Amino acid sequence: MITIIDFGSQTTHLIGRRIRDLGVGIEIVLPQHALAAIKKSRPKGIILSGGPASVYGRKALLVDKRVFGLGIPVLGICYGLEVIGQVLGGQVSSGKRKEYGRTNFTLKKDCLLFSGWEKNKNRFTVWMSHFDQVVVLPKGMMNVGSTDTVKHAAFADETKKIYAVMFHPEVYHTQYGLDILRNFLFKICRENQKVGQEKIAEIKDYLQINIGTKKAVCALSGGIDSTLAAYLTHEVIGKNLSCFYVDTGLMRKGETEEVRNNLKNKLKLPLSVVDAKKDFLKALKGVIDPEEKRKRIGETFIRVFEREALRFVYPERSRRTQGKQKILIQGTIYPDVIESQGTKHSHKIKTHHNVGGLPEKHGFKIIEPLRTLYKDEVREIAKQLKFPEEIIYRHVFPGPGLAVRVIGEVTEKKLDILKRSDTIVVEEIKKAGLYEKTWMAFAIFTGIKTTGVVGDERKYGETIAIRAIESKDTMTADWSRLPYEVLQRISERITTEVFEVVRVVYDITTKPPGTMEWE
Ligand code: XMP
Repeated sequence: MITIIDFGSQTTHLIGRRIRDLGVGIEIVLPQHALAAIKKSRPKGIILSGGPASVYGRKALLVDKRVFGLGIPVLGICYGLEVIGQVLGGQVSSGKRKEYGRTNFTLKKDCLLFSGWEKNKNRFTVWMSHFDQVVVLPKGMMNVGSTDTVKHAAFADETKKIYAVMFHPEVYHTQYGLDILRNFLFKICRENQKVGQEKIAEIKDYLQINIGTKKAVCALSGGIDSTLAAYLTHEVIGKNLSCFYVDTGLMRKGETEEVRNNLKNKLKLPLSVVDAKKDFLKALKGVIDPEEKRKRIGETFIRVFEREALRFVYPERSRRTQGKQKILIQGTIYPDVIESQGTKHSHKIKTHHNVGGLPEKHGFKIIEPLRTLYKDEVREIAKQLKFPEEIIYRHVFPGPGLAVRVIGEVTEKKLDILKRSDTIVVEEIKKAGLYEKTWMAFAIFTGIKTTGVVGDERKYGETIAIRAIESKDTMTADWSRLPYEVLQRISERITTEVFEVVRVVYDITTKPPGTMEWE
């Protein structure tokens, strides 16, 4: 539990809301009662909120200095930063310029509050609302970041676990605000997230309220996100849920059988497998451009899914049911939400998230029960629900499947060569115990023919590329330093077991500039 000391800011309750959303309990107390309340409830962390006053005014609201000596981590926000500055012996005075709204913050030093920060995140937009500034830092505090007008816009004493930021991380407009609060809760205060039964109960309540007695459909890919979303929905609405897995023919080798076994037999989900391999191959015939491939796959998926889903929602096809609302369950998670937001001037790199979801114009109300969760939280919940490990730790797989791993036109023959090669890559990575450490590991059919020599004979065959990467946030990635022996086994097996292939190459490109997928 976290104690928030309320200095009267408009956003105090927003801080509370964000923390609760992150699965941690809160209590809000007044400054004059803070010390006694904290001694009683022994929270894992303390947050000093913003407030409208000046810390050096005669009626300034301050807090007992002993709050900082209890060994409990403290985060001061805006006015809370000034309270820390004032109470711990720094100097606060009126700034030359008022700063309200959006401004740029530059991170200057590493600190746990901003840990996990990639280099390109060091300058970002924050939301400010203040007039005063801490002009002299208290003893022991290190300056962590500045804005153009505020030198000490974030400071910290990491040994005492006291942190302060001038901006408002709880406000939506502050970029990475949620990440900062997460770091405070889970890395600094070492809070335990309510990802257990309470979080599950919360999601189920949400589903009950939003679906009630209506029917819902879900498109499953076999990945953890859509599987968990469907599983929880099934627990709430039972036979009113119908799940579809569309076999596009673009899945990995043996994947359809594996998904059927996992979802139907192990998790007991009401699953229909729709064989649409021919539809997809037909739609992809002659297509070379990656974006065109995505577009065609997306359209085909929608057509197939809609056909199947409507059969479930309107079985009797009577006019009476036409007004019924169709509900679609999607496994969207928090990074998907961020990635699809984009900005007005940002380039469209790839048409992501186009598959597996039907646009609202198709008349579906979309429900996304996992929208606020990160991948690790989804995995944690799945663990608690005792999902099979092969579902929990399954590598991420793109919606358009192997179509974006066959460079050039997609044909059945190329897909077959790719699938056999890909299986070897994954098998060897698993054998080496590297599967869970790796974000993705896969093969690419490059479409480049090269010369080889097999049994003293010249052979003109295919080139397969291997890509193995490490990533935390999907936005950036580094190539995995796979041991040479593992690479050697992969290469040897592919060139002997997949007779069409004569050459294997390893992709050593980071993202950026290269994306994870080749197309
Ligand atoms: P990139 O290649 O953009 O991939 O670095 C980042 C992550 O997204 C997956 N990916 C896709 N997912 N539709 C999807 O739903 C797509 O069109 C798509 N393209 C890439 C990719 O596998 C990686 O995990």
